Amino acid sequence: MHASKKIVVTGGAGYIGAHTVVELMNAGYEVVVIDNLVNSDMTLITGIEKITGKKINFHKGDCRDKTFLTNLFRTESIAGVMHFAALKAVGESVQKPLEYHENNISSLITVLQVMREQKVKDFIFSSSCTVYGQPDNIPVDEHAPFKKAESPYGLTKQICEQILEDVYKTGFRIISLRYFNPIGAHPSALIGEMPIGTPNNLVPYITQTAAGWRDKLIVFGNDYNTPDGSCVRDFIHVVDLAEAHVKALAWLQATKTTALYEVFNVGTGNGVSVLQLVNAFIRKTGAKLPFRIGPRRPGDVEKVYANPEKINRMMNWKPRYTPEDALVHAWAWQQKLSR
Ligand code: NAD
Ligand code: WQD
Repeated sequence: MHASKKIVVTGGAGYIGAHTVVELMNAGYEVVVIDNLVNSDMTLITGIEKITGKKINFHKGDCRDKTFLTNLFRTESIAGVMHFAALKAVGESVQKPLEYHENNISSLITVLQVMREQKVKDFIFSSSCTVYGQPDNIPVDEHAPFKKAESPYGLTKQICEQILEDVYKTGFRIISLRYFNPIGAHPSALIGEMPIGTPNNLVPYITQTAAGWRDKLIVFGNDYNTPDGSCVRDFIHVVDLAEAHVKALAWLQATKTTALYEVFNVGTGNGVSVLQLVNAFIRKTGAKLPFRIGPRRPGDVEKVYANPEKINRMMNWKPRYTPEDALVHAWAWQQKLSR
């Protein structure tokens, strides 16, 4: 057993990291949050403090800054790392490929170097279903091969996973979690998604449109080979995703193996179309949501959803919330932001 229950969460001021910090604290872990606030501010940290009633051990700094990380790891007794910090906007990555490669890959390498020097072995990485591209078989399981990445962002996730596959053999215990489409907010409405500028992702675009911040939602295409013609995704509540991280960490800490690398899909296993989600939002919230059908968005895959059997079986993880719950929670969070 580890004497310390202190976990470093990089990117913990961001959307998924913040929800995971809450679940880690609920499970009795101590958390040290690192974030350079490049895509966030202190709002979610304040929200976590309200939910948990505890002060957050927050350090503003960059994962590429080895001196900063080394000092932190020397002063705190760290049992493991959850690495969320990354740039994540698919479209922006096409405009700024070097920034994406530099940030996402250098961050990973620097964190791993410091972990090796400070003898910290347990590591959980934020990967993505984007590594699959459009898979040949759906639901997609972890054995499906990587397809050519659709974007520099997607390529950073493939490269990071390949780095981890090399590195674990030197004595790390690593899990990559391949998230499908995280949506929703904490049921307290104290933390949620806070995109800077125009949202790229569907659910914040829906809630901002319903709140009157945007004129109209455009549904990107209704001529796909799917039941209603719109794209199909596996939408997973962000709190369920956060709980998957806690289960993954507990699993890692319970195993005695000195070097391991495991990859898990984190999805519900259900495909839901964009139009189904839009209609569910209108039905569940009663809000007005102006939308129209527009052209396809370049780079979108037609349909993808997870085979989550591996994480169900090995970690006894199953989602507690439905996509409808997530929409209701995202709407409550949006209304709070709108006040
Ligand atoms: P987010 O932008 O809300 O959070 C990421 C956080 O990392 C931000 O607070 C940002 O300021 C910070 N950060 C970025 N670079 C940093 C650096 N060099 N040093 C320190 N902090 C840095 O994004 P999110 O949606 O919470 O995503 C978290 C992780 O999950 C990312 O790795 C992302 O690629 C991955 N992921 C996200 C999704 C999704 O749809 N949101 C899906 C699959 C995978
Ligand atoms: C979902 C569906 C759009 C906005 C992205 C990344 C992926 C992963 C998750 C990080 C698509 C449609 C969207 C809008 C729409 N992230 N849509 N109108 O593209 O499935 O996945 O986030 O790893 O890598 O690519 O998510 O939320 O952008 O889109 O019709 O205004 O909603 O076409 O079918 P996506 P998304």
